[in-house]
Amino acid sequence: MRKILVLHGPNLNLLGSREPGHYGHSTLAEIDQTLRNRVANLPADTAGKIEIEIFQSNAESALIDRIHAAPLAGVGFIVINPAGFTHTSVAIRDSIAAVAIPFIEVHLSNIHARETFRKHSYFSDLAVGVISGLGAQGYEFAIEAAIRRIRLTIAQNTSTTQNSNTLNPKSAVISAAPGSNQHNN
Ligand code: DQA
Repeated sequence: MRKILVLHGPNLNLLGSREPGHYGHSTLAEIDQTLRNRVANLPADTAGKIEIEIFQSNAESALIDRIHAAPLAGVGFIVINPAGFTHTSVAIRDSIAAVAIPFIEVHLSNIHARETFRKHSYFSDLAVGVISGLGAQGYEFAIEAAIRRIRLTIAQNTSTTQNSNTLNPKSAVISAAPGSNQHNN
């Protein structure tokens, strides 16, 4: 089982009523439900193999603790909207670098079309990709990309296992005809 961890930073719990001109009208619960539905309806080859875990916090330390717990929790990919911490948090950046789990950075608004202080992100240079300005849909695109990457990893692991079984000398002996491996003295 591979997990996708979705992390929402501070004030995103207020989505729906918070500055809808920037962040739209969807609530966080609605966004999360769309993401859960997507993962619940995976194609047969990955159904039941990918899980989604979603966490929102207004506290930097809680987000960091969740990132630290991610490797042991089986997280293979992170989708994160660090919100206000995007522009301030060396500590969250360091935590995500420390666990070395690939991630996509998402912003509902286009941070490059707003105040100057929002143009800098402490995450973008480490991210696999950045989605900014597409509203709630940005999360859906990020989840889609995460699913594709995890499916690829699952497929690669399956073919590596099959190849190593074929090449494994012990398997070759087991499948050889009885007596074919005996030496004449
Ligand atoms: C945000 C953009 C940030 O600048 C802001 O502090 C947020 C939300 C976004 O999703 O557009 O809280 O990350």
